[in-house]
Amino acid sequence: MHKITIGVNGKPYSLSVPAQMTLLEVLREELDLTGTKEGCGNGECGACTVIMDGQAVRSCLILGVEANGREIATIEGIAESGELQPIQQAFIEEDAVQCGFCTPGFIMAIKAAIDNNPALNDKQMMEALGGHLCRCTGYETIFKAFKRVRKRSVEQKE
Ligand code: FES
Ligand code: FES
Repeated sequence: MHKITIGVNGKPYSLSVPAQMTLLEVLREELDLTGTKEGCGNGECGACTVIMDGQAVRSCLILGVEANGREIATIEGIAESGELQPIQQAFIEEDAVQCGFCTPGFIMAIKAAIDNNPALNDKQMMEALGGHLCRCTGYETIFKAFKRVRKRSVEQKE
């Protein structure tokens, strides 16, 4: 077992975890944060995406011990004071959710992309969603939601 300290959604946690436990397992099994989903378990679907120190990462590919000392944001932490976060709102407005399994991963990827560059272009948006799979194939509405978020963030900067 290895001792780690991680920040998750602004709260510090000290845990003892097996060396082979992934960050995804730490979040879901140790912290009961089950909003982050496991699809493929090997880095190919994006369902497990969280934000680590400002960058979107696939939590199934990161060991808990590698996350030691890092700050993690998950889907549970992005809505503030009971209000939907603007990306969540945009997904509702564009009807971009079907079964919802892929949705947390898409939202966290979009959040990291917008936080890092609020005025990103269409190509950069496509790149930000590269490798994210939606088995319900709702890509068009997800992209529309992303564009809606970009428009709002550009307007806020003006
Ligand atoms: S579960 Fe991590 S990329 Fe699919
Ligand atoms: S909404 Fe079902 S997998 Fe994307």
